[in-house]
Amino acid sequence: MISLSPKPALRGAGSFRVLDLKPRVEEFVVAALAGLAACPKAIAPKFFYDKRGSDFFNRICETPEYYVTRTELRMLDDFGPEIAALTGPAASVVEFGCGSPDKIRRLLAALDAPADYVAIDISYDQLVASAEEIAIENPDLNVSAICADFSAGFTLPPELCDGDGRRLAFFPGSTIGNQMPEEAEDFLQLVRGVVGAGGALLIGVDLKKDEAILNRAYNDSAGETAGFNLNLLHRMRDELGADLDPDAFAHRAFYNKTLGRIEMHLVSNDAQQVRLNGHKFAFAAGETIHTECSYKYELDEFADLAKRAGFAVRRSWTDPGHLFSIHFLEA
Ligand code: AVJ
Repeated sequence: MISLSPKPALRGAGSFRVLDLKPRVEEFVVAALAGLAACPKAIAPKFFYDKRGSDFFNRICETPEYYVTRTELRMLDDFGPEIAALTGPAASVVEFGCGSPDKIRRLLAALDAPADYVAIDISYDQLVASAEEIAIENPDLNVSAICADFSAGFTLPPELCDGDGRRLAFFPGSTIGNQMPEEAEDFLQLVRGVVGAGGALLIGVDLKKDEAILNRAYNDSAGETAGFNLNLLHRMRDELGADLDPDAFAHRAFYNKTLGRIEMHLVSNDAQQVRLNGHKFAFAAGETIHTECSYKYELDEFADLAKRAGFAVRRSWTDPGHLFSIHFLEA
């Protein structure tokens, strides 16, 4: 059942609504059973993000090795005025996979009197807390939080965006890299449908670069990325009742140069059996569950992908170190 709950307790003229389309636990069971039965074993990265997983991810963003978040934040500050000029006034901003409010806060501050903000994320607690912060800080903005798995398709309830300006989708963090290139193209087409004719997409995309920098970013010395990856096993044990020991697995992440992507895996330390819902899954020593791909794109590779999905590249920015890119695309 869809529930749109207004929160009239907030001060100011704006509003704050929550729409809960959170995936049901059954989806996780089905994905885990299919993923453990597959060869090679694989489970999609969207299942990292419960409360604990989101906390791990936020700590990854603070590690010295993970340049992604701090580089993108800096770029949003530096290029905010240009982004605002390209966007125009009274925009309705729709953010996919928002996580922490740091990025949208900068974008909203740069834009000319944005009208609406719709935050979409799979991780309920973080989503609602961060959208509520934004609503409190921006009393003239209509804020909605939608907890949903947007990789499964998404239509925007039109009543959430009734500003006069254009629709601007915001997809930061290089989350696009978590999809296979074919899926990424489909997703960009979906976003194109959401923003409609005249709409735009501001998207953060991690660049191909020196392998050592990439490998370090996904193997931080504080072990936050390892904790984030292993959290998937904690969720399977605690939420699905899987019979497994997370300590019997190890984190592995490496740059696959041929495919242009970071791969994250959970490696079985020894030969072992995992049980889930009455099914037994055998692991050989060293066998892995593939848990994430993080594709890296050259500027022109990403521009080609965007064009195939029906977007024109209006502007692309990179940081001085050429680590990260932000693109302003028009439908
Ligand atoms: C969610 C796409 C921003 O792929 O870099 C961070 C997730 N995984 N460290 C990425 C992640 C391991 C991240 N994004």
